[in-house]
Amino acid sequence: MEVIPCPDRDRAVALTARLIETRLRAKPDLVLGLATGRTMEEVYARLVASGVSFARCTTFNLDEYVGLPPEDPNSYASYMRHHLFDHVDIDPARTHLPEGMARDLGTAAADYEARIAAAGGIDLQLLGIGESGHIGFNEPLSALRSRTRDKILTPTTRRQNAGMFGGDSAAVPKRALTMGVGTILDTRELVLLASGTAKASVVARAVEGPLTSRVSASAIQLHTRCKVVLDAEAAAGLE
Ligand code: F6R
Repeated sequence: MEVIPCPDRDRAVALTARLIETRLRAKPDLVLGLATGRTMEEVYARLVASGVSFARCTTFNLDEYVGLPPEDPNSYASYMRHHLFDHVDIDPARTHLPEGMARDLGTAAADYEARIAAAGGIDLQLLGIGESGHIGFNEPLSALRSRTRDKILTPTTRRQNAGMFGGDSAAVPKRALTMGVGTILDTRELVLLASGTAKASVVARAVEGPLTSRVSASAIQLHTRCKVVLDAEAAAGLE
């Protein structure tokens, strides 16, 4: 694992966006794993501004809320259109998110894994980290070999994400369909971006703590090609 502390958020975001841009220019048919959340908004803004082509790129998002249709403004499908897909030359048919509205979530999850496999696996996966230690929506005690499935969100996560729901954590869906920790570890390269004081302690536990299902993000220690990009605040808990 390569930990890259940056002096500030702007530089951490710029470095992450540049890494994605570089990979896309080197391999235009990149299979790219995407994340949502506040941290990623500026990454996508920079990618849009870079003018890099997504025309041959295929994307798979980490997760989607259960029960929110793609047209709901709080769905991650809407987030992706708003922050990236509507502003680049990507083919919508090549963009994938887990089907949170599926009647049979188990089948939808297996189908998502099959689509990733059919695309040849994910070349580069972008990750954020939740205050609960999640990557994707792999809340504490997710099996380290877990695959795409539905997960119950912790109160910590619903509080963390309440901002998108008018500040009301009760309005945040209770479940999400998420790639598993094992799915994430299967990707060929990982880049995790974290910023802000609220992430300092969980970043330290993920990067320096023991490998434990209590902190799903600690699983990235098992990956052989993983960068952790941090601003000074998020890096403050590291020894
Ligand atoms: C979102 C996702 C989550 C977020 C994490 C950080 O698709 O998978 O793991 O990356 O919750 O969210 P922010 O950036 O809002 O702090």
